[in-house]
Amino acid sequence: MFSQQLIYSTALLGLSTAYATPRATLSDDGFPDPNAQQLLSIEQQADGLLSNLPPPPTLSQAGIANFQLIAFNENLEVQFFEDIISNITNHVPGFESFKSSTYSEAAILEILKTVKAQEELHAITAITTLEHFNAPLVPKPCTYRFPSTTLEEAITLAETLTAVVLGTLQDAEQSFAKNGDDGPVRAVSSVIGQEGEQNGFYRSILNRKPSEKPFLTTNVAAFAFSALQQFVVSCPFDLTQIPIPIFPALNVLTTAEARDMYLSFSADLTGNPQISEGSDFASLFVTYLVGQQLPISEPVINPKFDGGVLTFDALFPFTENLMSGLSIAALTNSSNFANADALVANTLAAPGLIQVNEVLLPNHKAGNYSRFASYPSRHV
Ligand SMILES: *[C@@H]1O[C@H](CO)[C@@H](O)[C@H](O)[C@H]1NC(C)=O
Ligand SMILES: *[C@@H]1O[C@H](CO)[C@@H](O)[C@H](O)[C@H]1NC(C)=O
Ligand SMILES: *[C@@H]1O[C@H](CO)[C@@H](O)[C@H](O)[C@H]1NC(C)=O
Repeated sequence: MFSQQLIYSTALLGLSTAYATPRATLSDDGFPDPNAQQLLSIEQQADGLLSNLPPPPTLSQAGIANFQLIAFNENLEVQFFEDIISNITNHVPGFESFKSSTYSEAAILEILKTVKAQEELHAITAITTLEHFNAPLVPKPCTYRFPSTTLEEAITLAETLTAVVLGTLQDAEQSFAKNGDDGPVRAVSSVIGQEGEQNGFYRSILNRKPSEKPFLTTNVAAFAFSALQQFVVSCPFDLTQIPIPIFPALNVLTTAEARDMYLSFSADLTGNPQISEGSDFASLFVTYLVGQQLPISEPVINPKFDGGVLTFDALFPFTENLMSGLSIAALTNSSNFANADALVANTLAAPGLIQVNEVLLPNHKAGNYSRFASYPSRHV
């Protein structure tokens, strides 16, 4: 059975600095400020128009923060897909089509061009909403660096990023409901379905079952914003103007498998005033978000604190909780959370993104779909 996990570590970022100079952020299609003709071209490539519904009459402060995060994330996704398209087009080694895929290179390229155009329209929608409400900050595209060096790694990362977004948009909808922002709900729901279609495709070409779970893993805005930081080289605005906290990364050091097992974690807690050599680390927890379960907290064991970095283990309780697909881990200083949003105030480091996926044999025959291939584990 295939299990794959993402390791967000300073080592990874250190490695990334060896990459070529990050690309300029402005696409040749005019994004993020296309003129009318360029917008039409984007819409034609996206197979649909921007919404022409009037903007909602009001938007709460929380609603503005939701759209700031959506714009920040969509800008990043546009550049991510632009980079993959450019790597395929320029025959960068590793970006040939999957050998196991039933799609030709031309088909994959066309699909990704359409995804990129669709992400551009998502971004433009968030940007124009923020502009309409005179938001104090409208995120512009940043300069990014991505760790993937093959098409398969890039699609694997696309799948995880999209799964994180699918959890985060649940949080946005919850926030809209709580704050009386009924205006954007229908449009944002249409994007949730759209991103789910994308992920079904990514999962298919990765030889995973297209539909991940009965109820997709939830997430919170702060964990999404924190996770995206590792791809950012620099931004033409002050990130702290987006009123969403950024946590230290929770690095997952063990490859998770589809069984109960202990995972090792590390987190750099330098600068956390609550933490010192004398802290009671055994009173901390790893709290997992998975599906629509109440947050699952497991006590930290074997804590070692050295130079501000805490290393520890915690149970990954797969069997009882059927943790297939994405699990999102946080280092917390309490347990028994009533819901995902309650985690944020008690989080010290997050998120750790953990994926466990069954993989169908690439050359399976009818009637043999329940077999699993083992893949080399890789770090995204
Ligand atoms: C494009 O290729 C370069 C060179 O291998 C790589 O560093 C970069 O991460 C790739 N971009 C994406 C989005 O995979
Ligand atoms: C738990 O962590 C939060 C966030 O760092 C902090 O504000 C709070 O004081 C901590 N509580 C305890 C009991 O350490
Ligand atoms: C089913 O998968 C198993 C394990 O990989 C393999 O040995 C067997 O030949 C496959 N059967 C068919 C009908 O493909």
